[in-house]
Amino acid sequence: MHVLLINYPISQNFHVEKATMVQALCHISIFILVLISNLTILSEGKLVFFPVRHVHIKNNLGDGINLQVHCKSGDDDLGIHNVTYGGDYQFHFRVNAFGTTLFFCGLVWDAKLHYLNAYIHQRDKERCAPDCFWTVDKNQSCLFNMRTRSQECRPF
Ligand SMILES: *[C@@H]1O[C@H](CO)[C@@H](O)[C@H](O)[C@H]1NC(C)=O
Ligand SMILES: *[C@@H]1O[C@H](CO)[C@@H](O)[C@H](O)[C@H]1NC(C)=O
Repeated sequence: MHVLLINYPISQNFHVEKATMVQALCHISIFILVLISNLTILSEGKLVFFPVRHVHIKNNLGDGINLQVHCKSGDDDLGIHNVTYGGDYQFHFRVNAFGTTLFFCGLVWDAKLHYLNAYIHQRDKERCAPDCFWTVDKNQSCLFNMRTRSQECRPF
């Protein structure tokens, strides 16, 4: 990949002066550095250019009802957060290279635990791009589908 890119911008037919040549090489080096840093840096198995998703979970339980949210993935525990009525808890992450990203959340209100699969890549990659807007009601959770621009609700 290196060699290919270095050869690419400089055509054999160009008669460039030495100074211009050095300058050009300098530009190319920077270009390659930027390219490599954007494409191939691996951190914890996640490719840097894989897309970011923002998940929002809104408390729509009613006046005075607190929602406790505890979201996790295979790698991350996002901790327990209290969300007051009308409030919106948010987190974001980068989708992993294998397309297996999954975040699930425990939701507690009125001392009862419910589960929400907040993001399953294969299920949500279209309707949740780039944001997943969840609303938690007493009887259901609803996701705003970004493609169809409509609410999709499921009973708890
Ligand atoms: C959330 O609120 C409850 C009371 O409703 C409190 O006991 C708990 O410590 C709070 N947790 C956080 C993480 O703020
Ligand atoms: C939940 O309640 C709302 C009204 O408060 C209703 O419109 C909705 O259909 C209910 N959903 C389910 C799954 O029962």
